[in-house]
Amino acid sequence: MHCVKDTSVHGPSMFCVRRRNVLMADKRTHDELEQRVKELEQAADERKRAEELEEEKHEKEMILDSLLEHVVYQNLENKVLWANRAACKSVDQTREDLIGRYCYEIWAGRQSACEDCPVVKAIETEAQQTIEKTTPDGRSWYIQGYPVRQVDGTIVGAVELTLDITNHRRAEEEKKLLEAKLQQAQKMEAIGTLARGVAHDFNNLLMGIQGNVSLMKLDADSLRFYERLKSIERQVESGAMLTSQLFGYARNGRYERKPLDLNQLVKDTCETFGRTKKEITIHRELSDDLFAIEADSGRVEQVLLNLFVNAADAMPRGGDLFLRTVNVTHEDMSSRLYEPKRGDYVLLTVTDTGTGMDKETMERVFDPFFTTKDMGRGTGLGLASVYGIIKVHGGYIDVESTKGQGTTFSIYLPRSEKEIQKVVKATEGVIGGTETVLLIEDEAVILEVGRDLLEAMGYRVLVARDGKEGVKVYKKNKDEIDIVVLDIVMPHMGG
Ligand SMILES: Nc1ncnc2c1ncn2[C@@H]1O[C@H](COP(=O)(O)OP(=O)(O)OP(=O)(O)O)[C@@H](O)[C@H]1O
Ligand SMILES: [Mg+2]
Repeated sequence: MHCVKDTSVHGPSMFCVRRRNVLMADKRTHDELEQRVKELEQAADERKRAEELEEEKHEKEMILDSLLEHVVYQNLENKVLWANRAACKSVDQTREDLIGRYCYEIWAGRQSACEDCPVVKAIETEAQQTIEKTTPDGRSWYIQGYPVRQVDGTIVGAVELTLDITNHRRAEEEKKLLEAKLQQAQKMEAIGTLARGVAHDFNNLLMGIQGNVSLMKLDADSLRFYERLKSIERQVESGAMLTSQLFGYARNGRYERKPLDLNQLVKDTCETFGRTKKEITIHRELSDDLFAIEADSGRVEQVLLNLFVNAADAMPRGGDLFLRTVNVTHEDMSSRLYEPKRGDYVLLTVTDTGTGMDKETMERVFDPFFTTKDMGRGTGLGLASVYGIIKVHGGYIDVESTKGQGTTFSIYLPRSEKEIQKVVKATEGVIGGTETVLLIEDEAVILEVGRDLLEAMGYRVLVARDGKEGVKVYKKNKDEIDIVVLDIVMPHMGG
């Protein structure tokens, strides 16, 4: 600052003082202004910071609100301090409604914290906690509790993270069930192949023995031999029963399916059965307007007998056997072991008041050769053949049982739209004739025995070892041949 010489009345010094005063006042104003500017700048900064903070908070909320997990921040007493949108939506309330209330009161309707609460545990142990839980409504949850710390490390609350895993669990269960179904189907298929092979070879052996025995019986001149031969025949018959069960399970063999009335079959079979088991009371509740089914009556009879015999075995001191038939649809079939085809079905239930079964036995009852009976009393093929026969008929079978109380087998057979035909039983007795028979069979033993048997019955027999040879023989003797008896499955050319 400089001082200009003043030549006015007050002289030079006066001028300088005033000037200095003016200058000082200017400076004060300037400083004040500067201060004010600073204050304004600071206020603007603070406002900006507050805006930024607000934006940051909004952004964090936005992030947490976009999660599927319920996020709930709680204080040390489980009072809600903040909750995200999913958490609010789960109870259909606003964030403001939830804040300040106890978490257990909102989500569990309780007066105190749940015993297994991961938040309480996280606060206690100062570490993250996880649990899985199924609520009474059948939903599954994955719940995590995280302790929340201040900068100095003090725990001030906890965050609870909850995810609804119901669909995930259901998908997992369905996958497991599908795998089990697949495994069961593969097992049944593999054993089926084995059973088919064994049954076929075994059957041929039996037919050979049976044929020879029949021929020997025709020639037997002593009663003693005749009785022995009859005894062999009886054993062959029980062997044939076995192969028949095996064929049932293996789902091959001949099936003659006709539209028929299941009620009639049930009546006939249970009357025969009832005569042999007087200690069992049979109760029948057969629907009057039962749909027709298309089935092989012999095979269905085999199914019924197997179930009745099993029921009787489970009631050694007698009991009640309930037989019920009713029309149903696929919607009435609730088993989780199969997916029934849409349509109408006839349901037959066979209930006994016997010993019942535990879960392990129940899971294996349809397995071939599974039996809990003593050696010689059960082969374990009964229900395996029942299963196979029902499958061939496009049906389903279920079992329910309570140990010590009894068992129910439910059989579903698809409805047939065709008209019912009466089942006519073949009459027994030896037939014979004088016609010419062409016998075609690839198994040497059966061919030989068959020829001898037919000849013993009076027929003239021509033979061939396979389809091709059969055609050749037939062409050559066309005019003489009256009957052709042939095997269905043969090499080169089948029947
Ligand atoms: N009604 C039932 N009550 C209790 N257990 C049963 C019943 N039906 C079947 N079971 C159980 O299932 C097993 C298998 O039955 P399945 O009919 O296949 O064979 P089995 O009766 O033992 O022998 P098989 O029928 O070949 O003479 C039986 O050994 C028994 O343990
Ligand atoms: Mg049985």
